[in-house]
Amino acid sequence: MKHLTSIRELYRDQAIELLDSAQQLSHVGERDIKKLPTLRGKTVVNLFFENSTRTRISFEIAAKRLSADVINVSAESSSVSKGESLKDTAQTLEALGADAIVLRHPLSGAPKNLASQGWISASVINAGDGSHEHPTQALLDALTLRQAFGSATDLAGVRVLIVGDILHSRVARSNILLLNLLGANVEIAGPKSLIPEGIEAMGVSTSNSFEEALSQRPDAVMMLRVQKERMQGEYFTSAQDYSNSWSLGSERLAMLREDAVILHPGPMNRGFEISAEAADDSRSQVLKQVSNGVAVRMAVLHHCLAGGER
Ligand code: CP
Repeated sequence: MKHLTSIRELYRDQAIELLDSAQQLSHVGERDIKKLPTLRGKTVVNLFFENSTRTRISFEIAAKRLSADVINVSAESSSVSKGESLKDTAQTLEALGADAIVLRHPLSGAPKNLASQGWISASVINAGDGSHEHPTQALLDALTLRQAFGSATDLAGVRVLIVGDILHSRVARSNILLLNLLGANVEIAGPKSLIPEGIEAMGVSTSNSFEEALSQRPDAVMMLRVQKERMQGEYFTSAQDYSNSWSLGSERLAMLREDAVILHPGPMNRGFEISAEAADDSRSQVLKQVSNGVAVRMAVLHHCLAGGER
C-alpha cells in the first residue's frame, strides 16, 4: 500500500492488518521512550487546507513516534494564499524532500487526484477531503469499537447507529464503507434534509426518528457534528428544533444499553448535537478515539512508507 485516499482501496484483510498494526503500535505510547526507528530518514509533510486539531496533531505525533521528520504546512501561511496550485505546492514539497504528503482539502477527490495524476512520487494520505472521505478517522473508530467489544479481527454483527448530518460528513461515508467491510450493521438517522438520497445503496438502513433507532438497541451510537461551514441554505428550521430531535441528551442516554458505547469524531458542540452529560458519560469513547488516532496514523504511515515491514 503506497497511498490511502479512500477506504474503497482496502480489502477486508488489509483493513484488519492495519488495525492489528495499530493495536501493536498503540503500546509505543505507553513506553518511557515513545519512539521506534522505523521511518528514520523519511520526511512527512502535513498539508492542511482546512483547520484541524485531532488529525493534524495526531499525524504529527504518529510520524515523530516512528522517527520521521515532520513539517506542518497550512494553506493560509503558505504560497497557496498567493494562488499556487495543489500540483505546484505538492511538487515543491517533494523537491524539498517529502516522502509522504498528508492532505486535508475542502475539495472531494483532491487526495485521489494528487495520488493518481503522476505529478509526484510521494505517498498521499487523505486526512479528510470535503464531504467525501476521512479514512483514518474510520480506522480509528473501528479500532475503538474492536477494543470496546473485545474483537481481535472484524466487527461482525456489531450494530452501529450514526446520527446527525450525514449529508456533509466524510466521517460517515468512510465509516459506512469500513464498517460494512468489517461485517458490522450500520443504521443512519437524521433529518431527511441531512440524509443523502439513495444512501441505502451503500448498505445501510435509515431512520428519521432518533427514538425509533435507539429502540433497536444499537451497540454503538456515533454522533456527528452539524457542518454549518459546508451548508448553503437552510437544512432545519432552527438550532433548537434540531437539538430537540437529534441531540444525545439525558432522555436518549437513558435509552442506551449499559454496555453500549458513544462515539463522536470531534470537534463536539456540547449542548447542540451532544449534551455534556453524554459526552462525559462512562460509555463515551471520545478520548479513546483521539488516542487511537495516533496508533492508527502510525500504522498507516508505516504501511505506506515502509511497506508494513518492521
Ligand atoms: N475528527 C477530526 O477530523 O477532527 P479535526 O478536524 O480536529 O482533525
